[in-house]
Amino acid sequence: MKPLNILAISGSLRKLSYNTAAIEALSRLAPKDVTVKVYQGLGDLPLFNPDLENELPAAVRELKSALAQAHGLIIASPEYAHGISGVMKNALDWLVSGEEFVYLPVMLINTSPRASHAQAALREVVTTMSGRIIDNACVSVPLLSSNLDAEGIVQSPEIAGPLLQGLQQFIDAIEAQAEADD
Ligand SMILES: Cc1cc2nc3c(=O)[nH]c(=O)nc-3n(C[C@H](O)[C@H](O)[C@H](O)COP(=O)(O)O)c2cc1C
Repeated sequence: MKPLNILAISGSLRKLSYNTAAIEALSRLAPKDVTVKVYQGLGDLPLFNPDLENELPAAVRELKSALAQAHGLIIASPEYAHGISGVMKNALDWLVSGEEFVYLPVMLINTSPRASHAQAALREVVTTMSGRIIDNACVSVPLLSSNLDAEGIVQSPEIAGPLLQGLQQFIDAIEAQAEADD
């Protein structure tokens, strides 16, 4: 297996975010040759403004560069008022008019199974941006109100199991596509 780089973005800036905990847990659970890099710059991105696209702000350039080096993207994002969190949508808006997202394999993690609107909206946005959602890699895990942090998730077979299973499906899909492209 060739080493794989996967970028993971949490759509929550909350310190004790379940979405951030889920991707941090995955970065610890990932197989040896797979790096799940947790993106840390979401709160540093300026509000999207097409006028700035000719001379991109440094934080946006960093995001685009991290994505360009990634074989896949994991998004774990909360639902706010039946929508995608504003910070997540802001990041996606910066990526609409670039090459990085086109055909990029995407895995969605939902940490609150009752929240269906944001997941549906994310699917619509990612697909519109020509990202390739890997359906059997997308997972929903009941983290809301669990009080679990990343370490707690790693130690919880009920949560870590489905997350890892989703990641493995994601890895398999990325590798299958790479083989088909060769
Ligand atoms: C302003 C606000 C609006 C929310 N709206 C919804 C909602 O519409 N549907 C839902 O299922 N949860 C909603 N929630 C709950 C969040 O999705 C939940 O707290 C989630 O865990 C936040 O993600 P985080 O733990 O990664 O920060 C809302 C929370 C906040 C703070």
